[in-house]
Amino acid sequence: MSCPYSSASILTNGDNAQKGEVLGAETGMLYGDYLMLEKIINAQRMQSAESNRPVHDEHLFIITHQAYELWFKQIIFEVDSIRDLFNVYAVDESRTLEILKRLNRIAIILKLLVDHIPILETMTPLDFMDFRDYLSPASGFQSLQFRLMENKLGVKQENRVKYNQRYQDVFGGDSNAVDLIIKSETEPSLCDLVQKWLERTPGLEEDGFNFWQKFQKNVNDLLNEDENKAKALTDEFLRNYRLMDVNKRRDVYHTIFNQDAHEALVSRGERKFSYKAMQGAIMITLYRDEPRFSQPHQVLTCLMDIDSFMTKWRYSHVMMVQRMIGSQQLGTGGSSGYQYLRSTLSDRYKVFLDLFNLSTFLIPRQNIPPLTDEMIDQLYTHRKSS
Ligand code: HEM
Repeated sequence: MSCPYSSASILTNGDNAQKGEVLGAETGMLYGDYLMLEKIINAQRMQSAESNRPVHDEHLFIITHQAYELWFKQIIFEVDSIRDLFNVYAVDESRTLEILKRLNRIAIILKLLVDHIPILETMTPLDFMDFRDYLSPASGFQSLQFRLMENKLGVKQENRVKYNQRYQDVFGGDSNAVDLIIKSETEPSLCDLVQKWLERTPGLEEDGFNFWQKFQKNVNDLLNEDENKAKALTDEFLRNYRLMDVNKRRDVYHTIFNQDAHEALVSRGERKFSYKAMQGAIMITLYRDEPRFSQPHQVLTCLMDIDSFMTKWRYSHVMMVQRMIGSQQLGTGGSSGYQYLRSTLSDRYKVFLDLFNLSTFLIPRQNIPPLTDEMIDQLYTHRKSS
């Protein structure tokens, strides 16, 4: 079997030009041509060398950033394709596996990106100092693909740390970059589309299974039962403690059962999902053992993995920055450096924050509303819900 980028065709032009030409003609293309290695391999311009003071570690610095940018490109490619799969009135369930596969791929790439950091950390702060001045004002802050990736996943402008808000300043005269950023902010993000999908979760229909009403009743029954048990305790300290706990849980549940309370959290950036999407996510989490909810549940898990790895990357990057330039120096991009980056570690940057917090609202298995025959029928026959 002939493959353009494997076995015999892995001959560089220099190895055996004649044989290479013959193989090239047979397979259509050589390894180096197919991958355009001429461009990639020759794209490392060391500023220190150009200034006649070559610094060994600048090579690693450039390669690491380029590797990142290539992976960012792949992630954007995957996110765009997943957004297309989600961006329909009713997601064809036969595509859920494909969505899942691609989301999982993104998570694994992001994990790899976190692991790039220790490689760069083999460079010492003194080594970095040897060439840092040549970089200014270049900064990862100007990575267009990083911003596009964040926006397409669903990081919202209003949740960003202030310094980060004026792309026009950051990308200067690059109108193409600004246009792409604006487009990525206005198009539905992955998070927006996931919410639309969750809102259509079968079983939420008020004139059907009406999961939300049943769930709310069972939660209230559970809380009332716990309250009665607490009231019956003879030990005053324990009784007060248990009653306080029940009241606290009531308050927490109030934020999902009362739409105004939910919206208030959304407006403060403490919750991101729509009221209905929250209901879908809770339902999928509770009934994840049902065949039709098993893949959607894995989708939710993958989305959390993606957020987790993004957060881990931010954290590892901040640690590296502190190690390289300390916490008082400005960044080459003009920010307060470490201080600015540390402020981006907050939950405001977690796109799927609500999925992490779902565990707050789970109830014991025996209190989950039992499925009706109709609902079982719907879940087992894959009948279209919309
Ligand atoms: C020696 C290694 C590094 C140092 C000292 C460093 C330093 C910094 C600093 C100080 C900032 C804040 C913006 C500014 O420049 O004022 C920043 C932002 C950033 N850097 Fe790095 N960086 C390093 C490596 C990397 C690598 C390998 C990447 C991979 C692409 C990267 C990507 C970014 C991104 C995307 C931002 C913007 C983050 C945000 O605004 O949320 N950096 N970096």
